[in-house]
Amino acid sequence: MKKLKNWDNQTWLSSKNYIHQFNKFLSKRARFNKNTKILDIGCGRANIISNLQKRQKFKEKPIGLDIIKNKGIKKNIIFKKIDGYNYLKRKNEKYDLILLKQTIHFFSPSKLKALLDIAKKRLEKGGKMLIFSLKTTNNKIPCFKKMKQKLDGSLKRDEKLFKIIKKKLKKTNEYYFNFKVNISKQKYLKMVKSRYISCLLDLNNNEISKGVSELRSKCKNQIKFTDTLKCISYKK
Ligand SMILES: C[S@@+](CC[C@H](N)C(=O)[O-])C[C@H]1O[C@@H](n2cnc3c(N)ncnc32)[C@H](O)[C@@H]1O
Repeated sequence: MKKLKNWDNQTWLSSKNYIHQFNKFLSKRARFNKNTKILDIGCGRANIISNLQKRQKFKEKPIGLDIIKNKGIKKNIIFKKIDGYNYLKRKNEKYDLILLKQTIHFFSPSKLKALLDIAKKRLEKGGKMLIFSLKTTNNKIPCFKKMKQKLDGSLKRDEKLFKIIKKKLKKTNEYYFNFKVNISKQKYLKMVKSRYISCLLDLNNNEISKGVSELRSKCKNQIKFTDTLKCISYKK
């Protein structure tokens, strides 16, 4: 699979409003204070933990891990270009919050199991692990036909991953984070062309241009939908 580079590259997922609402949701699920230590696995450009750091001024800067070092990674956090599992295996540090946002689908079931086992060990007592992933049913992400097939396949796989997570973590709670997206068709088509979501990564250029034409004729000039994430919360 190609690398995901444009997920949070000037999209609604990196907009001030999205980050603000997401972090409001996070603050309800994990109580922050100056001593809170945070690890974000698959942080992308680290918009989320950077904004948290700006507002909360933690004594220890949040750590963000990603296998890709994109351009424009935020500077007020500690970024490490490394696989999340390898990092946890090597470092014996503990965290109050381990965040995995829209990252689990990059893991095989066996690697996810191993990651969860080690992440549990790296949580402080009372610490939380919050795992976010796209809602698997009735998902509203605007898609062309081929993209929808890929997305549905990926969401089916996510359902299996959710089962693994619940089995591994045992006592969990579930929440939903909803964000109302309102984006111009022009901007959304640009996101599709830049393969913003992983279900587009394996499509060839011809499939992408056909898909863009399909969306151009089927979508309204202003695209509105709700982007919903399921959140699984585990407390040690
Ligand atoms: C969909 S993006 C989500 C980025 C960020 N969490 C957000 O929601 O804005 C998933 C990220 O996970 C990263 N990733 C994939 N496999 C990873 C791994 N094994 N360890 C760390 N990061 C990984 C990808 O490179 C990508 O940046």
